[in-house]
Amino acid sequence: MRDYLLFYVNGREHKVTGEHVFLPLSSYLRYVVGATGTKVVCEEGDCGACSILLGEVQGDDITYRTVNSCIQMLYQVDGLHIITIEGLKDQGRLNPVQDAMVACHGAQCGYCTPGFVVAMCGLFDGKQPACIKEIKDALTGNLCRCTGYVSIIESGLEVATENIKSLRELYPSEPIRKELTAATSQEVELSAGNKRVYIPLTVEQAVRFKAANSSAIIISGGTDVCVNMNKRDYDPAIMMSFCRLEGQRDIVLDEAGKTLLVGGTATLTKLEEFARDNVPELHHLLWLFGSPQIRNAGTLSGNIANASPIADTPPFLFIMDAELELTGSGGTRRVCITKFYTGYKQFDLKSDEIITRILIPLPVATDLVKLYKVSKRKHLDISSFTAALRISLEGNTIAKAAVCYGGVGPVILRMYRTEEFLQGKPFSIETFSKAGEVAIAEITPISDVRGSKEFRNQLARNILLKFFHETRQSRREPACLP
Ligand SMILES: Cc1cc2nc3c(=O)[nH]c(=O)nc-3n(C[C@H](O)[C@H](O)[C@H](O)COP(=O)(O)OP(=O)(O)OC[C@H]3O[C@@H](n4cnc5c(N)ncnc54)[C@H](O)[C@@H]3O)c2cc1C
Ligand code: FES
Ligand code: FES
Repeated sequence: MRDYLLFYVNGREHKVTGEHVFLPLSSYLRYVVGATGTKVVCEEGDCGACSILLGEVQGDDITYRTVNSCIQMLYQVDGLHIITIEGLKDQGRLNPVQDAMVACHGAQCGYCTPGFVVAMCGLFDGKQPACIKEIKDALTGNLCRCTGYVSIIESGLEVATENIKSLRELYPSEPIRKELTAATSQEVELSAGNKRVYIPLTVEQAVRFKAANSSAIIISGGTDVCVNMNKRDYDPAIMMSFCRLEGQRDIVLDEAGKTLLVGGTATLTKLEEFARDNVPELHHLLWLFGSPQIRNAGTLSGNIANASPIADTPPFLFIMDAELELTGSGGTRRVCITKFYTGYKQFDLKSDEIITRILIPLPVATDLVKLYKVSKRKHLDISSFTAALRISLEGNTIAKAAVCYGGVGPVILRMYRTEEFLQGKPFSIETFSKAGEVAIAEITPISDVRGSKEFRNQLARNILLKFFHETRQSRREPACLP
């Protein structure tokens, strides 16, 4: 058992014990390391000013992803290599991304600038040039309130990518990888004051710890928990970080190629990459989910276990009858997600259990599948209403219907009465129009900051019509590849 955190910052080893272990990474970088180029504005993952690159040992290499350092606690970066804006200099000179920002007047007050530069360096790692869409996508997690985005995006287009040194050239993987691999083959347990954190390596260790410490809070990507810690006075005493849980990160297809097996700590970015070629509707939904920084840290398990009635991924899981694999001291069991939630923020997970896998049957080529997210802003916003619909037809008759709504009550709702109404009916505008009335009678929305009860009722009705019009036009385009 190791009793200190070990990680690298800009190629230098750090060993940390005591109260610093429980700081947000951004605070450690600014106040302990003195790397004040990492800025803090919102402290809740919304603005990207605190963006850094996190490098993780994968096989013989280290792979890097951009994340928000304000919502990563220090104990989440054990065994990783952190690169800050200071670490992106090339032999004391500005790098090509910074040169382009200067040439295109990409900064005014400069507060957001380090975050933009880090996000672009993540995008251009490997020297590949990017088109305007790729640049915009990579920067959806970065906000600027004075320069405006035109000159920042122009900077991205003007970067001399052929002159960029890849992160592996700036920080050769081998020495760092060797040190991290040797030191991180042990579990870690640390405490300071009334706080304690445990970092297991295996599911067995995690379950054993949870059985002995039922109040321990699991922290996977931390994109929900750490916002609560920063903003809502949430101050748990015992934490268990899944940053180094082995064998849980992968996303694979089962042998038959019909069911997707998503590991308990697989990130949303990994799921997005899988969905790109296999489930375009899910890929589009994940493109709208948070930002690259959020998806690079956040997990599917975390989205499920956070149990928000407006979480974006569960409606898809509901219409596919996905199963959750839950592992505890009594062994492993499976629960269909449609039976998982029992009330607002309540679900069927015992105090010693963790989500170890999500099994998602994939849509077949003849399924008509649509996923909808309604939010005030297109990107980086929490939904006001979500919906997932799956219909299979026999001729022009609806043979099977699966409908799920979020944001219409205390839990995500599989709309069984609406499904029953649709089944056996002709695929027509009249059917979907009448189904809207059934749907409204099935839900209990409230009015809140994201929308009124009336707005949500209207969405519950109109989304069925939208589904009809969109799928009528594209009935020849399958929901997934055959
Ligand atoms: C700026 C911002 C934008 C966001 N945008 C969206 C969005 O567009 N759509 C959306 O749905 N959400 C959004 N979120 C919420 C969040 O990113 C997601 O819910 C994410 O999937 C959480 O995953 P995580 O791994 O970070 O969870 P964590 O914060 O680590 O954990 C969340 C909860 O799940 C529990 N948990 C985690 N892993 C396990 C496990 N394996 N077994 C049992 N319990 C577990 C934790 O104990 C905790 O209660 C956003 C958050 C932020 C900060
Ligand atoms: S300070 Fe805004 S995302 Fe971290
Ligand atoms: S340059 Fe001032 S906020 Fe972007």
